Amino acid sequence: MSAPEISTIGVVGLGAMGSGIAQLAVQGGYEVVGREVTEELGDVARARIAHFLQRKVDKEQMTSGEREGALARLFTTTELSELGGCDLVIEAIVEELDAKCQLFSALEAIVRSDAILATNTSALSVTEIAASVSSPSRVVGMHFFNPAPLMPLVEIVRAELSADDAVETAFAVGERMGKRPIRCHDTPGFVVNRVLIPLLNDCLRVLDEARVTPEDLDTAMTAGAGWPMGPCTLVDLVGIDVHVHASEALYEKLREPRMAPPPRIVAMRNAGLLGRKSGRGFYVYD
Ligand code: 3HC
Repeated sequence: MSAPEISTIGVVGLGAMGSGIAQLAVQGGYEVVGREVTEELGDVARARIAHFLQRKVDKEQMTSGEREGALARLFTTTELSELGGCDLVIEAIVEELDAKCQLFSALEAIVRSDAILATNTSALSVTEIAASVSSPSRVVGMHFFNPAPLMPLVEIVRAELSADDAVETAFAVGERMGKRPIRCHDTPGFVVNRVLIPLLNDCLRVLDEARVTPEDLDTAMTAGAGWPMGPCTLVDLVGIDVHVHASEALYEKLREPRMAPPPRIVAMRNAGLLGRKSGRGFYVYD
């Protein structure tokens, strides 16, 4: 396939990751069509992006004209059909293979034949998602890190049948969004989560083994290992449900005991203690 010039990017799912990706895209000068399931959720995402761009203006990292320009490039909709003109669509919906496959199959019927389809999946197989479309060469992974506007990395994931053009175009888009992209193949957890998920699970097991408090464990890893954020704060930020899901997905594929989520966080997930997003995880949030 020959990849198109990218000027309009679709983002499907405007939650924490999708709204961050949409923010990066409008900051990078792209027109963005963001799709959410309700208008209210679209408005929440727009308000969130407007807020973070205002903080950039306050800190003189952006002019108010640039902020207005960026917000004017953001169009939100509840209709998937509005993504018909997109050159690249980045999916950031729920981490469920069936839901992603259904979405990709629907997108294929809507976008041009040369449009690229990217998934922000953390732990599912890009190759399996690509199998839901008739032209899997157009599918790649673009895995951003939480919080997407702040974390410099994006993993550009090559699936079994990804075309070179699609991979290189996604890489160039990552660069224009101000990220530091890397190329990798579609293996469980790609690069960062393959290392970070078992590491975080080790940290969480230490909570019980060493009988430390979450605060002390966080102090241990920030003050003793130079982490920017302690493991409990990080898991609360990522979302305990997201972390448990990623751990289960990696454990299922690799069968390494360290990948399996510790029972304590599975119980927290089941109890609705999801971290920042639910107001309570290892810590309590306003
Ligand atoms: N979106 C946009 N802007 C944001 C933001 C967000 N979600 N959150 C914060 N900001 C802005 C704020 O405007 C803030 O400025 P303000 O306080 O003046 O308003 C500015 O960013 C800086 O915020 P902080 O003061 O909190 O920034 P820090 O210097 O403390 O750094 C950090 C924050 C970059 C998140 C740092 O703590 C860090 O690197 N933590 C580690 C995060 C990490 O490891 N993430 C990866 C998780 S794994 C993952 O995502 C994979 C997935 O598949 C599970």
